[in-house]
Amino acid sequence: MPAAVPTKPLTPPLKWAGGKRWQVPHLRPLWESHRRRRLVEPFCGGLAVALGLLPERAALNDVNAHVINFYRWLQRGLRVKVRMENDKALFYQHRERFNALLLAGKGETAEAALLFYYLNRTGYNGLCRFNSRGLFNVPFGRYASIGYMTEFSAYRDVFANWTFTVGDIEEVPVERGDFVYADPPYDVDFTQYSTGGFSWDDQERTAVALSRHRGPVVLVNQATKRVEALYRKLGFDIRFFDAPRRISCTGDRAPAREIMGTRNL
Ligand SMILES: C[S@@+](CC[C@H](N)C(=O)[O-])C[C@H]1O[C@@H](n2cnc3c(N)ncnc32)[C@H](O)[C@@H]1O
Repeated sequence: MPAAVPTKPLTPPLKWAGGKRWQVPHLRPLWESHRRRRLVEPFCGGLAVALGLLPERAALNDVNAHVINFYRWLQRGLRVKVRMENDKALFYQHRERFNALLLAGKGETAEAALLFYYLNRTGYNGLCRFNSRGLFNVPFGRYASIGYMTEFSAYRDVFANWTFTVGDIEEVPVERGDFVYADPPYDVDFTQYSTGGFSWDDQERTAVALSRHRGPVVLVNQATKRVEALYRKLGFDIRFFDAPRRISCTGDRAPAREIMGTRNL
């Protein structure tokens, strides 16, 4: 018998820069009349929106293979088999083991998924950063205390009818009736190449891909002038929000003004 879909939002298991948990109350009224549709998130990141809206069907994609590997293992039923403590020496030991798995081509294992969870919770600011060799290089986080999850089965039930893919926004197969929620990396004014490797060209091709979708689309981004102009030109309805403080990639916690563009809603 298929597991019953929980109706109470679940806490995202990871810390994720740009997490949109705060937006869920604003999205719920837009989503409510479409909830029979499949939710598609081309930039699913920390999964705050899907876990807040709890669609029956969802297609969730991110270019970060480690985060998707972690979700796929939650879907299969992940058990905690590594020691999880907020301890500096243990953190560097686990980081070394995680990187050894990556070097050995074992980045898709359950062990890599668990270590990724531990490193995300224990490392500095929940950052996810790799060096030029593709090795995780975030330092120890020095939190006063950390509540590690020891039981992930609630996610397995929710994820039952969800699919997870690794890829670029333009590779996400979208069907006509899908409800698309897109939260790309923030545009940073006046820079051709923003930190995190998402350039203005990437912003533009994202906007064009979203504008081609025939079903409902919600786009969120930082409210820069050029993002506003881009989405207005493509026929999106625009509104603005004041976001709560955010973690940027530098760890800065400045407030941000956000834009929400909608189409076919
Ligand atoms: C702002 S975050 C999304 C946060 C998410 N909505 C949440 O609530 O946690 C943007 C995400 O886009 C992903 N990303 C960056 N470039 C991408 C690309 N070209 N295609 C797909 N995903 C990409 C990043 O890995 C990151 O997880």
